[in-house]
Order: sequence, then C-alpha cells, then structure tokens
Amino acid sequence: MAAEYLTHKGVLFPGLNYSPETLSYVENKFQVRDDDVFNVTYPKSGTNWMLEILSLIRCEGDPGWVRSVLNWDRAPWIDNQTGLEAALKYPSPRLLTSHLPLQLFPKSWQHSKAKVIYTLRCPKDVLVSLYHFSHFMHIFKVPSSMDSFLEDFLSGNVPFGSWFDHVTGWMGLKGNENFFFITYEELQQDPGGSVRRICRFLGKELCEEQVASVVENASFQSMKGNQMSNFSQIPDTYVNHEKGELLRKGKTRV
Ligand code: A3P
Repeated sequence: MAAEYLTHKGVLFPGLNYSPETLSYVENKFQVRDDDVFNVTYPKSGTNWMLEILSLIRCEGDPGWVRSVLNWDRAPWIDNQTGLEAALKYPSPRLLTSHLPLQLFPKSWQHSKAKVIYTLRCPKDVLVSLYHFSHFMHIFKVPSSMDSFLEDFLSGNVPFGSWFDHVTGWMGLKGNENFFFITYEELQQDPGGSVRRICRFLGKELCEEQVASVVENASFQSMKGNQMSNFSQIPDTYVNHEKGELLRKGKTRV
C-alpha cells in the first residue's frame, strides 16, 4: 500500500497514525508539565540515539530500563495518535519525543519549566538517512530517485517540512534556559563530554562510571543489538524489516 501524506498548516505529515485533529490537539490543548523532558529533532537526526541517552541518564547509567522497555514507550512521540495516547497516560516525570517544527509544538510549553533537548545533524547526512529509511518505513513514500528526493528535501516537500525551517525555528530559542541543543556530530566526537553537558542541563549528577555506562549502552553497537531500541519490534504494518534497519551506518560523512 502506497503511503499517503496530509498537509497541516503548510507542513506535510505521514497519513498513517497522524491526523490534523491530533496535531491541533498537541499544539493547542496538550498540557506540558514542568518536569517533562522533550527530545526534539528533525527526522533522522539522531532521535533514537538521544532517546537512549536520556533513558540511560534517567536511570544513572543502569541499562535495565533500555533493555526491557520499548523506546517508544520510554519516550512516546507526541505528534501521532498512538504516541499521544501513551503520553497522556504517562506518569510524571515524562520523557517525550517530537519531530514537530517549533510553530506546531505545544503552546503550553512556553509557560512551563519543561526542558527541550534539540539534536540537529548535517542535512546531507539527514537526506541520505531519510532516503534509505523511506524505502522500508511505510509511513514514507518510496522515493523514485535520489535526484527527485533531493529536490523534495530542499523544497521542504517531505514529512515534517523543510529541514532548514525546522532548524531555523528551533535554533531561534538559543539562550533560553529551558532549551539545549547539540549536534549528532558532537555526540559522535565526544560522547562522554556530550553526556556530561546534557546531565548539567537536566540538573542530574552522574559519576564518571555512570557516564561511561550511558555512553557504552547508547553506542551504535549496543543499540543495534537491543530489540527494545532498534525498531525490530515495530509491526509489519509500519516497516518492511527485510528492506532496511534503523541503525544503518551511523556515520558522519562531512
Ligand atoms: P544512518 O541512517 O545515517 O545510519 P533517527 O533516530 O532520528 O531516526 O536517526 C537515525 C540515524 O541515527 C541513523 O543514521 C542511525 O544509524 C543513527 N543512529 C542511531 N543510533 C545511533 C548511535 N547510537 N550512534 C550513532 N548513530 C546512531
């Protein structure tokens, strides 16, 4: 079955599991709590890696949680129907995920103390990663060629809109005390230092051993082998598991 997209306020979204009603609810009615922590990204920018890091920081480096609970239950995507339902049932303190551009993010965040961690990645790598992902994740249309996909990507004609608008919007919050940003490339170059910076932002004190355990258990190899984190448990309705996997290469090309 070919994927369909919907347009909401000028931004494309997958048709499966997303709806204008859910997106409007999330923007206007979703109640952000002061102790919420949001993992926000443009798709393919390291969302699941950050989700793993935040899960492990929450558990002081103990891998028990990441090895026993599916990542989308640990930090549900509030943007879609099933994720929103999980978020509404989630007892505080919540760990939540979102790909929403800033203008569609819950308005109630502005008057809360909730923290947002925004991870961005070189758009060239995002493009390549999204191109491959679109071949096996059924919520995306299969690109006819890299050339046409590049054109769509550059003009923002892809789900969650333009990478450029997404990053420009969120990076406008630089300096806000509840907003922290980091790049995929920084996570790769200095994982330990990155984890320590994230901990400082969250007000969480971890000893060196615990930081090392976060880094180790959120590594590419650990996540690739962890069924709770590698998307292998996503039902076939959403994924063709024979055509690809979430943890593809995990490399930076620039
Ligand atoms: P590639 O397709 O370039 O391999 P997202 O989680 O936002 O969907 O991003 C997926 C991308 O992040 C994939 O990139 C994936 O391999 C990479 N990734 C996931 N976990 C990672 C990790 N622990 N270390 C490095 N890269 C990781």
